[in-house]
Amino acid sequence: MTIEILKDGDALALRVADLFALAAQESAAARPRFAVALSGGETPRALYKLLARQQFSQKVPWRRTHLYWGDERCVPPDDPRSNYGAARDGFIKHVPIPAENVHRMRGEDLPEEAAHEYDGELRRLAAQAKPRVDVPVFDLVLLGLGTDGHTASLFPHGDALTVEDAFCTPATAPDGSPRLTVTAPVINAARRVWFLVSGAAKAGMVAEVIEGLRVPMAVPAQGVAPVHGSLTWFLDEAAAAELSPDARA
Ligand code: 6PG
Repeated sequence: MTIEILKDGDALALRVADLFALAAQESAAARPRFAVALSGGETPRALYKLLARQQFSQKVPWRRTHLYWGDERCVPPDDPRSNYGAARDGFIKHVPIPAENVHRMRGEDLPEEAAHEYDGELRRLAAQAKPRVDVPVFDLVLLGLGTDGHTASLFPHGDALTVEDAFCTPATAPDGSPRLTVTAPVINAARRVWFLVSGAAKAGMVAEVIEGLRVPMAVPAQGVAPVHGSLTWFLDEAAAAELSPDARA
């Protein structure tokens, strides 16, 4: 586990945009595709904007890049709450990625049906791996962190936390709104897992996830522990403010 602390949200987005392009090149050099699961919420929007810029987009092998999502709100793609919609408008419509390489969760469908459909999508990803794998292996999973300790749409004490027989499942946000989320085994099978967290509001939970008592059912982000891959926290100074000197070292 690595912790990178950047000055602010803009510096964080710049650093991650650089490393995203590098990870894409490395993955596409080692395998037929670079498979990445995007996160939702506000924090990745600055990154998405940067990926649309020539200086970054020209470094990404888009023809071999496949975009997936870690979670989605159960809304149509044009809804302002749509995680797919945010990435589409942020960078996807500005870069030369083939439409068939964009694997979105169908937030407009019934949650059970959409989760089942996406579970199939992830099983196809697993089947395409050489050698074939049981759990789909992403080259990169981007995650955010809620002030309640949720990540993707894995909420405290949520049913989705204990799902083992599906790679995508419906979930319910604390406000009652329906969501779709990949399950913990998918996140933990990834080669790289990156948390992007910025702002003082997150400082307490960042410290609790990284240094607090281990209670993953209550703090789902604590359940993120890649089996073979690497875990990196990209924090701005404000989000890192409550970490101990040891953790910051
Ligand atoms: C979502 C996300 C969710 C998000 C956190 C942090 O769909 O909302 O995937 O897990 O990453 O809630 O959200 P912010 O970046 O908006 O603080």
